[in-house]
Amino acid sequence: MYVENTSAPARKPVTVPGLKAMKAEGRKIVMLTAYDASFASQLETAGVDVALVGDSLGMVVQGRSSTLPVTIDDMVYHTAAVARGLSSTLLVADLPFMSDRDVPAAMDAAARLVAEGGAAMVKIEGAGRVCDVIAALAERNIPVCAHLGLTPQSVNRLGGYKVQGKTEEAAMRLLEDARAVEAAGADLLVLECVPAALAARITSELSIPTIGIGAGVDCDGQVLVVYDLLGLTPGKRPRFSKDFLAGRDSIQAAIAAFAGDVREKRFPGPEHSFT
Ligand code: KIV
Repeated sequence: MYVENTSAPARKPVTVPGLKAMKAEGRKIVMLTAYDASFASQLETAGVDVALVGDSLGMVVQGRSSTLPVTIDDMVYHTAAVARGLSSTLLVADLPFMSDRDVPAAMDAAARLVAEGGAAMVKIEGAGRVCDVIAALAERNIPVCAHLGLTPQSVNRLGGYKVQGKTEEAAMRLLEDARAVEAAGADLLVLECVPAALAARITSELSIPTIGIGAGVDCDGQVLVVYDLLGLTPGKRPRFSKDFLAGRDSIQAAIAAFAGDVREKRFPGPEHSFT
């Protein structure tokens, strides 16, 4: 049974400026998804820096074939559940498909994630016109995590879950998009399925931290879907993930191993990255 975590936090709360300080000091940021209070408290105990309520919940919790059917009500419900399991870990929640279709809609959705869900930051996919939304949220002091590279909400346009930025032209476009989301006011940037050398270049050019998933070891931090990390996701394991439960006897040990490997730059290895 889940018991609410009411004990005093053992460490200082992770903050948005704190993430920037970690980049400046060369300390890797550990991010992991969570969708409920029990997993959230596992992340908290393992000292994970950032918990992400990803719209990946549509696939790994709801059993759907993409993230597109996830609603803002789903996101608020899971974000509030995760918030109850955390005390010092920073909470980030995804803006689901089309909740960011224009500035007013995105403001309403982000306000619900923050006020009802307890999120400290919202994540949004894409650049271009999305930069207007990022700027509007930042102006209202809602911290934003941008998400570039493989953006799963664009799966139909991308034609599948494929590595992005592989040609010189696509790489330059991604670099420009990264500069644009930072200029718009994003505080953090997730890079998903991007060649490691390109992610390293973006990381060194930007002043905001980058968090990689399939983007090489040189990002400022790493994120995985918690069920991938535990080897629970059915089907073929994605190249960028690793089963950290294999050879360990608890979920806590697996999450702690992931956190340690990220901080010591042992994960991801070249075998989890793309060229
Ligand atoms: O939805 C999600 O879980 C994500 C991560 C994979 C970065 O966006």
